[in-house]
Amino acid sequence: MRISPAGLRQAQALVAHRLGLQFPDGRVADMQRGLADALRGSAFASLDPYLAWLAAVPDEDPELRRLAARLTIGETHFFRDGAAFEALERHVLPSLIAARSAEGVPRLRLWSAGCATGEEPYSLAIELDRLLRDRADWSVTILATDINTEALEVARRGIYRDWSLRGTPPWVRERYFHRRRDQTFELDRRIRGMVTFAPLNLASDGYPSVITSSGNPRRSRRSDCSRAAWRTTSTTCSASSPATRTCSRRTSARSIRELGAWTRSARGPTGRPP
Ligand SMILES: C[S@@+](CC[C@H](N)C(=O)[O-])C[C@H]1O[C@@H](n2cnc3c(N)ncnc32)[C@H](O)[C@@H]1O
Repeated sequence: MRISPAGLRQAQALVAHRLGLQFPDGRVADMQRGLADALRGSAFASLDPYLAWLAAVPDEDPELRRLAARLTIGETHFFRDGAAFEALERHVLPSLIAARSAEGVPRLRLWSAGCATGEEPYSLAIELDRLLRDRADWSVTILATDINTEALEVARRGIYRDWSLRGTPPWVRERYFHRRRDQTFELDRRIRGMVTFAPLNLASDGYPSVITSSGNPRRSRRSDCSRAAWRTTSTTCSASSPATRTCSRRTSARSIRELGAWTRSARGPTGRPP
C-alpha cells in the first residue's frame, strides 16, 4: 500500500487516538501492513475514506475491533511475567486478602485489561484459588477485557495448546488442566467460572467501573474501581499513549489508594508459537 508522508502521520495519529496504539517510525511498517490488511477486508476502495471512517466510527463497531486485532500482538502465556505474578502471589494478593478479611468484607475484584486469549486472568484465578483457603466464603470476580473479540472467543473456550503453558510448573498443569485427546489442555471448569470476559477499548473514554450482576462491564467515568487489583498491559499503556493517559487518570493517587494495586506486564512479545 502506497501512503504519502502526510497520510502516514494522519494514520499514526488516528491509530493512537482511537486504539491507544503507538507506532513510532521504527514500527511504522507494521502499522502499514495492518492497515493494508484491514483495508482489503473492508468496503473502502482507498486509504483516505478509510481514515475518515476511522476518525468517526463508534467504539463498538466490529470493524474497528477487527482493525485492532490486525495491529496488536496477542502474545501471552500462563504466568507470563513471572516477577509480576510472584509479587502478586507473595505481597499484593495476600495483603488485599488480609485487608478484606479484617474489614469483614470477603470480596475481591480483579481486572485484567488487555487479556488477549485469557491466559493472564486465568493465571490470576489459579493464584487466588491457591491463596484463598476458605474460598467458598469469598466473592471473587475477575473481569478480563480486550479490544480483540476473536481473542476473547478463544479465552472463553479455555482450551490451550502446550505453547500457552510454557513456563507453567508441572503441578499446575496436573491440578488445573485436563489433557484432551488432541493433546490440547482444557482448563478446569471451576477456574473458568471465576473469570468474566468482555470487549473493551482502553483508549475510549468509558471504562468498567464495576462488574454488574449480569457479568457485563458497565461503562462509567467515575473513579469507582475501589478494591480491585488491576493488571494491565504495556502494549496498551506505553509511555505516551492515550490509553496510558486513561490508565494514569484512573490510577491517580486517590484511585491507587482505593483500588489497592496496579501492575503492568513486561513490554512486548517474548516469543512466537512454533
Ligand atoms: C501482548 S498482549 C498481552 C496479554 C496479557 N496482558 C499478558 O501480558 O500476557 C496485549 C493485548 O492488549 C490488547 N490491546 C491492545 N490495545 C488495546 C486497546 N486499546 N484496548 C483493549 N485492549 C487492547 C491486544 O488486543 C492484546 O490482546
